[in-house]
Amino acid sequence: MTNPESSLLGVCFIGSGSAVPDRVLTNIDLAQMVDTTDEWIASRTGIHERHIADGEQDSVANLAAKAGQKAIANAGLTPQDIDLIILATSTGDDLFGTAGRVQKILGAERAVAFDLVAACSGFVFGLVTASQYIRTGAYKNVLLIGADVLSRWVDWQDRRTCILFGDGAGAVVLQAGSQNNLLGFEMRSDGKGNDLLNINYSGRSTFEPISMNGQEVYRFAVRRVPEVIEKSLHYANLEVHDLDWLILHQANQRIIDAVVNRFGIDPAKAVSNMGKYGNTSAASIPIALDEWVQAGKIQSDHVIAIAGFGAGLSWGSAVFRWG
Ligand code: UT7
Repeated sequence: MTNPESSLLGVCFIGSGSAVPDRVLTNIDLAQMVDTTDEWIASRTGIHERHIADGEQDSVANLAAKAGQKAIANAGLTPQDIDLIILATSTGDDLFGTAGRVQKILGAERAVAFDLVAACSGFVFGLVTASQYIRTGAYKNVLLIGADVLSRWVDWQDRRTCILFGDGAGAVVLQAGSQNNLLGFEMRSDGKGNDLLNINYSGRSTFEPISMNGQEVYRFAVRRVPEVIEKSLHYANLEVHDLDWLILHQANQRIIDAVVNRFGIDPAKAVSNMGKYGNTSAASIPIALDEWVQAGKIQSDHVIAIAGFGAGLSWGSAVFRWG
């Protein structure tokens, strides 16, 4: 399939949506499950509560489809308008891919749909992937979804990891246009750090729960994230002070604070909602983006830098203009 108006090779951001499970698990609830306290979790991470999937209604496909539906409606399109669906997830309902289920729920019959696995960098990598199809004229309307249900893969006895994660989905619709609003990006990976964070296949059709070296991943994030933001700003011909918003993967408030301090930017520009959602992996950036768009804080023409980081190890950033 090709975009019939092949003069339109710019990437425009025309809608967002998000969805989280209804069930909320607070730090106080967790303190009754493992040896932890609200004070420890809040002061070390900034997280107060998270939404946890509750059965089939909160499958990755269902959450992703809900977020996608809202993004399509907010973009003023219908599912039939969508040419490509990219589902960034590492916790799919089906190892063969979950994007097809999302396509079916949405009724996006014209679209081709596939999964993209890049852990907490999935939304950034998905955005860059989606943009390539638009920039070459292959597709016009792309639905990009980040969705993860990491609660399925958490060891609920392990206080070092079970306090961190939440479930959810966020989506954006990208459209080919005459202006290119994806201004710059940088993607990186380093497989040497793969053992620092993973969900390993353990044989006999099973996987181990999440294992993470928190301190090492923290150090990696604080060191590497500013580098890719600087790179994508450089490609965009912009400076840090040109940014209206900075949306980092919502893993730890202390990581956001460290990056904000490093760049000397106004902390009010650094979007943070992990207090309510925890770390939702590939969903965290689009959930935060959508919350700020729906609140009217992010407006047309605002310049936004996003950065994801996590398992792989993988990390990446993109700078774009909303609209
Ligand atoms: O999305 C993927 C990217 N992931 C990340 O970005 C995670 C990055 N890492 C982090 O956010 C932090 O490393 C954590 C929040 C995971 C941990 O914070 P930390 O300040 O690095 O704590 P720590 O691992 O150094 O542990 C300090 C102490 C230890 O006790 P000792 O050995 O000092 O006696 C831990 O056993 O805190 C203990 N601890 C806890 N205590 C109460 C670990 N987890 C808990 C807990 N409640 N839940």
